[in-house]
Amino acid sequence: MRILVTGGAGFIGSEYVRMLLNSPAAVPAEVTVPPPLLEPSLVTVLDKLTYSGNPANLDPVRRDPRLRFVRGDICDPDLVDRVVPGHDVIVHFAAESHVDRSITGAAPFVQTNVVGTQTVLDAALRHETGRFVHVSTDEVYGSVETGSWTETAPLAPNSPYSASKAGSDLLALAYHRTHGMDVVVTRCSNNYGPYQFPEKVVPLFVTNLLDGQPVPLYGDGANVRDWLHVHDHCRGVALVQDKGRAGEVYHIGGGTELTNRELTQRLLDACGAGWERVRPVPDRKGHDRRYSLDITKIGAELGYAPVIDLPTGLAATIRWYRDNRAWWEPLKSHAAL
Ligand SMILES: NC(=O)c1ccc[n+]([C@@H]2O[C@H](COP(=O)([O-])OP(=O)(O)OC[C@H]3O[C@@H](n4cnc5c(N)ncnc54)[C@H](O)[C@@H]3O)[C@@H](O)[C@H]2O)c1
Repeated sequence: MRILVTGGAGFIGSEYVRMLLNSPAAVPAEVTVPPPLLEPSLVTVLDKLTYSGNPANLDPVRRDPRLRFVRGDICDPDLVDRVVPGHDVIVHFAAESHVDRSITGAAPFVQTNVVGTQTVLDAALRHETGRFVHVSTDEVYGSVETGSWTETAPLAPNSPYSASKAGSDLLALAYHRTHGMDVVVTRCSNNYGPYQFPEKVVPLFVTNLLDGQPVPLYGDGANVRDWLHVHDHCRGVALVQDKGRAGEVYHIGGGTELTNRELTQRLLDACGAGWERVRPVPDRKGHDRRYSLDITKIGAELGYAPVIDLPTGLAATIRWYRDNRAWWEPLKSHAAL
């Protein structure tokens, strides 16, 4: 099987590539994960290497003869048209992914997440690629006070990021309906783990705490997120790639909901710091209060269950950032984080 992974030099895409090539850097040593599901003969990464894409994320598999790397933009139709032929499956991770950046400027989000997805879909259609796995987010549903969304809940995104992801989800599903393309969509909750760009809350807080710096907590800290270890997410995507039904949406969750204050407390405890290190900052504009996914469908149909619990996963993630300063220090100083 020949797999094209867009955004394969980013946080989640690179774990997917490492997992496909049997070198998942993100699995905590104390956890046994199920054996690999897919045995690719070729894994092509197509990545623009924006600020969040990093070739070093693929270092553990760099020498694998099955890996091919193409630096390029998914919005470039000529390039995408040259790269897509010869693949059986496309797993589409490439996106602008940070909500705060979408509030500052929405244009790159619409361009990459909507136009880029349409460009890759068109090439897949033209070249009759077998399957298109579109990786999306719980944020497309907007905020939910109580209960959990199922896959049939209406989309009501609130940020430019989530609106652009909702647009790309609908396009992907439309290519299934209109053209009969073999499309599956995954929507996951908040990922954490190694190799996450240190602007996102877990690596930002951990690296700040390791450096003796304060951590910025939005608003009252009562916003709730479900936390999913990146390797559990990638196993879920692999299950959907392998056995998901065409035209269907599958949720992938971690099973641990925390307020931002609770998450902060866990990170402070793990890093041996106290609340004096927390600096309250004005809330994010339009900040969704709570996301929550019902993951019954992927469990019942495909046998998915997360295997990395939050205490184990967070402890291993903090160890990774402690041991890999050479990876994140240049990123933080370059991005002035
Ligand atoms: N991180 C999360 O918690 C989370 C949660 C739900 C869904 N997702 C989704 O998962 C996917 C991956 O997220 P991530 O956290 O790994 O993001 P990331 O920002 O770490 O990685 C994105 C990757 O896409 C590449 N990219 C961006 N624009 C591109 C373009 N125009 N052409 C080619 N490559 C481009 C970047 O260089 C980078 O390697 C995204 O689609 C995101 O919406 C992420």
